[in-house]
Amino acid sequence: MTEETLLALDSYIQKHYAHEDRVLREILSRSEAAGLRNIQLSPAQAKLLHLLVKVHGAKRILEVGTLGGYSGTWLARALPEDGKLITLEIDPHAAQVARENFAAAGLSEKVQLIEGDAIQTMKGLLGQGTFDFVFIDGHKSQYPEYYEFTMRMVRPGSLIVLDNVVQQGKVLDSSLRDIHHRKVRELNAFIGVDPRVEAIMVPTFTAKGLDGFLVVRVK
Ligand code: DHB
Ligand code: MG
Repeated sequence: MTEETLLALDSYIQKHYAHEDRVLREILSRSEAAGLRNIQLSPAQAKLLHLLVKVHGAKRILEVGTLGGYSGTWLARALPEDGKLITLEIDPHAAQVARENFAAAGLSEKVQLIEGDAIQTMKGLLGQGTFDFVFIDGHKSQYPEYYEFTMRMVRPGSLIVLDNVVQQGKVLDSSLRDIHHRKVRELNAFIGVDPRVEAIMVPTFTAKGLDGFLVVRVK
């Protein structure tokens, strides 16, 4: 199978199952115009998270790493009327763009964006209710810390999804010693034997290449 086939398949899936409406397209163009990095989820990846939120019946979602609010919009749209997304972003510029994007999507009521270091914010959120669904997509070097704080904010049955756990297949290469690959590789191995959860890696192929989600259910 060629990369060309995989790219065509991603387009095919998007066309039939992950249509972007005008609001989502405008979120992307606003993000691009503001100079944000083009590293948000693909439509098909975002649709999968959207469905997981709905199937799970999640009412309280935490997202680590808002960027321009593209994934946040797909997540918040899956929530019921009284649902809430709390999303964390360290970059003030991205946070400002995301606030505009959530407002344009009519989601300002449902979404609370907290600007600042995610670990510090998560410390402050401890004891303020649990989350049904957590999406971790922040700095890869901090994944183990995000995961441990998340474990203190969830309940049995909660779902945790981590983005970028395959990294073009680089997680297979233990000779790569840089912190981003190393921390993700270590966490992948850790969660696989973590008695508190059951989990599976879901490889994804998008226009940005091979990557994957780690889907984790709290026991
Ligand atoms: C990067 C971060 C992401 O969350 C992603 O999905 C792709 C790339 C990065 O920091 O390079
Ligand atoms: Mg990501």
